[in-house]
Amino acid sequence: MNIAVLPGDGIGPEITAEAVKVLKALDLKFELEEAPVGGAAYEASGHPLPETTLRLAQSADAILFGAVGDWKYDKLDRPLRPEQAILGLRKHLGLFANFRPAICYEQLTHASSLKPELVAGLDILIIRELTGDIYFGQPRGRRTAVDGHFPGAEEAFDTMRYTRPEIERIAHVAFQAAQKRGKKVTSVDKANVLETFQFWKDVVTEVGQQYPDVALDHMYVDNAAMQLVKAPKRFDVVVTGNMFGDILSDEASMLTGSIGMLPSASLNDKKQGLYEPSHGSAPDIAGQGVANPLATILSAAMMLRFSLNQPEAADRIEAAVKAVLAQGLRTPDIHSPGTTRVGTREMGEAVLKALG
Ligand code: IPM
Ligand code: MG
Repeated sequence: MNIAVLPGDGIGPEITAEAVKVLKALDLKFELEEAPVGGAAYEASGHPLPETTLRLAQSADAILFGAVGDWKYDKLDRPLRPEQAILGLRKHLGLFANFRPAICYEQLTHASSLKPELVAGLDILIIRELTGDIYFGQPRGRRTAVDGHFPGAEEAFDTMRYTRPEIERIAHVAFQAAQKRGKKVTSVDKANVLETFQFWKDVVTEVGQQYPDVALDHMYVDNAAMQLVKAPKRFDVVVTGNMFGDILSDEASMLTGSIGMLPSASLNDKKQGLYEPSHGSAPDIAGQGVANPLATILSAAMMLRFSLNQPEAADRIEAAVKAVLAQGLRTPDIHSPGTTRVGTREMGEAVLKALG
């Protein structure tokens, strides 16, 4: 089993280091190889996703990814910005299926900004299509407007698009995931305004007919954003496009108290996957040893389950994370009165110990 470790920028190196320690403690046979990505790679070699890093990722069974990005790169040309590394990996590896679970751990019910009764026991899974939509649609760019409100004015444009097979395959992923849990899929669209998402809705409905055991409903994205804070427990599996999924998954993450707790998996059709915390590089707290490593550690658990066929090892990690929360250990992002404040490394060590 080959794992490519791409720590990236900001808090990325600190949090991946803890996840790597946990992986190494499992007594499984891994080859772990590290490579630079994002701003770190740009500094080292002038490109956020160097050839060697891409090749390492392509040849690995799974990728453990930290985070990329820093405000100091905002002025670079777009192809050189750190974010292009993650977008490039998604594109080159065909990682179309993004799993973003939002689980509210019992001990963190009070860390949520919502009332405890709204989030206690929350367990939703956002499945975001990750290689299509307005993120990758061509053409895009700047030009002179020929029509609209200001003909002759400078304008920028992007293209929202989905092909039938792209929608079908992510719909199958969602229905199959729902079969293993609450048997309910909510497809989120904007069919009342956008052609692309009327098509999305039609295709998801068709695919749904092959899954009579799964209940399907449809929701406009604006309403979904509202329902997520009004009654989040009404959702089981949410499936949506790339851009809506980007936004709704950040919103859902906060229901659980901290984005620092949420792992994610991005899979292709060969079950090769990239595993990363749902949060970003947090340059404001980088290097201080206070970042929460649990999302990355839980991403390593998802990696064991989805790409490496080691479900028992995944269970062990997840149980260890629950155990350290039960011990009252908290990084600052999830700290509350009466609990013990710890740093990144102490949290990692505690998980190691709890692995038993
Ligand atoms: C995410 C991030 C990325 C995205 C950025 C860093 C390109 O926000 O993974 O959600 O928009 O997909
Ligand atoms: Mg995002």
